[in-house]
Amino acid sequence: MPAILITGANRGLGLEFAKQYAEDGWTVYATCRNPDSAKDLRALIQAHPAIQIHALDVTEWSGIERLAARLQDVTIDLLLNNAGIYGNKAGQKLGDLKPDEWLKVFCANSIAPIKVAEAFLPHISRGSGKKIASISSQMASLANNTSGGSYYYRSSKTALNMALTNLSIDLKPRGITVLALHPGWVRTGMGGPDAPLDAAISVSGLRQVINSATLEQTGTFLSYDGLIPW
Ligand SMILES: NC(=O)c1ccc[n+]([C@@H]2O[C@H](COP(=O)([O-])OP(=O)(O)OC[C@H]3O[C@@H](n4cnc5c(N)ncnc54)[C@H](OP(=O)(O)O)[C@@H]3O)[C@@H](O)[C@H]2O)c1
Repeated sequence: MPAILITGANRGLGLEFAKQYAEDGWTVYATCRNPDSAKDLRALIQAHPAIQIHALDVTEWSGIERLAARLQDVTIDLLLNNAGIYGNKAGQKLGDLKPDEWLKVFCANSIAPIKVAEAFLPHISRGSGKKIASISSQMASLANNTSGGSYYYRSSKTALNMALTNLSIDLKPRGITVLALHPGWVRTGMGGPDAPLDAAISVSGLRQVINSATLEQTGTFLSYDGLIPW
């Protein structure tokens, strides 16, 4: 059975990814900051014993290395970098920019996905899937930015996209496909209650996109329902 490692799998899109891949028979390494309080994820294990929960704060760099070492004999077909933060929604405006908050968003959204990929490269290289999918956002798109605002979030996801482009170039010779994905605007803790999309629809669309992507598509920016301009 193929295996996936998901970050931020305790709620929102990450939890839905864990559920759908487990239902499909995958072995799921579901990581989250606080396994003890991840009650929805723990409940999933009752129906799907092939889910394993591991503690991982993606901004604790040594913790990423420790988990990669603990799972050193494991093969991962798909790494799903899902964990992310928006930062203070009310702030992030010109005249009120706070570098410390901005840096935190950068650590979680731009640096962490690449550090997780770096640490788990041996596990991914052994797999037959050989894919790294990272949840970016349409808000990262330079071409689509007509409203401004959300300085921390937008810039952190744009930086992620550039780092993923690098990763795709570095890893193409090793046969590893790297994708930047937009899930749509989804009803989660981050998306809020007014978002038009249900997590189940977004995740099932993204799973099809990931599944059908070949090495030819490495380094592309894809939505749950199509291509996104950089
Ligand atoms: N929802 C949308 O409309 C939308 C649109 C575009 C892109 N996205 C992206 O989709 C991804 C998932 O978002 P979501 O909508 O599911 O948001 P969410 O409901 O707020 O969930 C975010 C997840 O990320 C985890 N996380 C945050 N910081 C972390 C850290 N340092 N280490 C480990 N886990 C951490 C959270 O864990 P805790 O429970 O411990 O906080 C939670 O599991 C994010 O990358 C987001 O930027 C979402």
